[in-house]
Amino acid sequence: MLANLFSKKIKFLAIVSCGTCAAYCEFCFYTSEPRFYKNFIMPLVHKLDPETSHLLAIQVLKKKLISVPKFKDPPSLRSTLWDLEFDNPIGLAAGFDKHGEAIKGLHKIGFGFVEIGSVTPRPQLGNPKPRLFRLIQDNAVINRYGFNSDGHDVVFERLEALSKDDMTKRGIIIGVNLGKNKDSADSIEDFVQGVKKFAPVADYLVINISSPNTKGLRLLQQRKDFADVIDKVVEARNKLCMKHKTPILVKIAPDLSVEAKQDIAAVLLRPGKPRVDGIIISNSTIVRPPDLQSPLSTEEGGLTGAPLKKMSTDAIKAMYGLTKGEIPIIGVGGISSGADAYEKIRAGASLVQVYTALVYQGFPVITGIKKELAELLKKDGYRLVHEAVGADHCIE
Ligand SMILES: Cc1cc2nc3c(=O)[nH]c(=O)nc-3n(C[C@H](O)[C@H](O)[C@H](O)COP(=O)(O)O)c2cc1C
Repeated sequence: MLANLFSKKIKFLAIVSCGTCAAYCEFCFYTSEPRFYKNFIMPLVHKLDPETSHLLAIQVLKKKLISVPKFKDPPSLRSTLWDLEFDNPIGLAAGFDKHGEAIKGLHKIGFGFVEIGSVTPRPQLGNPKPRLFRLIQDNAVINRYGFNSDGHDVVFERLEALSKDDMTKRGIIIGVNLGKNKDSADSIEDFVQGVKKFAPVADYLVINISSPNTKGLRLLQQRKDFADVIDKVVEARNKLCMKHKTPILVKIAPDLSVEAKQDIAAVLLRPGKPRVDGIIISNSTIVRPPDLQSPLSTEEGGLTGAPLKKMSTDAIKAMYGLTKGEIPIIGVGGISSGADAYEKIRAGASLVQVYTALVYQGFPVITGIKKELAELLKKDGYRLVHEAVGADHCIE
């Protein structure tokens, strides 16, 4: 009888403990508790192969199976650029929502803007799998997706439907990152087509000439070709019958030599010639720093995350100086905290973007970055984020 009573008590205790545990997990999940994501959810997600996890994340966001963070963006994070009003300067970098499927979910989790793509004119499959690798020991990722894309028409329809959903205003700032088809006969024409197609439905457009996974693409960063791309895409945009000119940005690699950066800046500042409205710095790197620990670090493709952080910040600093701060910069590469974002802003970035940190910290990382950035701005006496842009240049 005593044994029976004892076993009933054990059962009761087990049920109560499991219930409490489940309730705690649910609480942590719905309140987006950062440590719970970093130490529990993300390691579980990492049991799946990287591309499956990526597709799963898109589905979760598409179906809005996520909690909305309680954090309200403080006024200090607001800024206006290209006549667009950003609630906060933290955007999603290209390559996560390549086909524009999860924009509303991404907005809900706190991004100040969402860049979709790269989108190619015709649909294409991209490179054979596996093509995405987690470098866990390095907080990094290598990808060689090679522009898998649903193509212009399908992505355009998705964006149009989104505009129709919210009749008055979408309320989400959306950038469309343009790529080129692998078998395209005329790369520049692919970008021109992208500009014509997406200018009416995008808040800004990105000419991506820096992905390392499409043969020959990076060569368009060389002076003569670069000038040709810029002239043609800006001209195509200017010819469109639109009241408001959709801003055009160009995305560059972190691996450019000093001379190559000088050439790019010279083209961007040519007097009397068409100008782009912004630069995104940077794409992934083809460099493999010698201190990488992961056995997957020899995989071919673009490296992103922590090992890219300094490289991209240095490139931002250099380009901000070379362009005399005249062309707004979106800084991206290895941002995983408010301090990282602040560093890029002080180096010259007006806005920043995040990708790889999502792989290691999950969605709560966005709120974490915003909170810390607001605190750092306050500590240094900045009322508004734009006051800190390029601050490191003034004191040098
Ligand atoms: C899996 C993956 C796919 C990417 N695909 C694209 C892409 O299609 N177009 C693009 O311009 N950048 C792409 N990027 C580069 C990111 O937009 C960003 O520039 C880079 O990841 C650096 O930021 P991070 O260190 O925060 O990840 C991709 C990055 C990753 C990790």
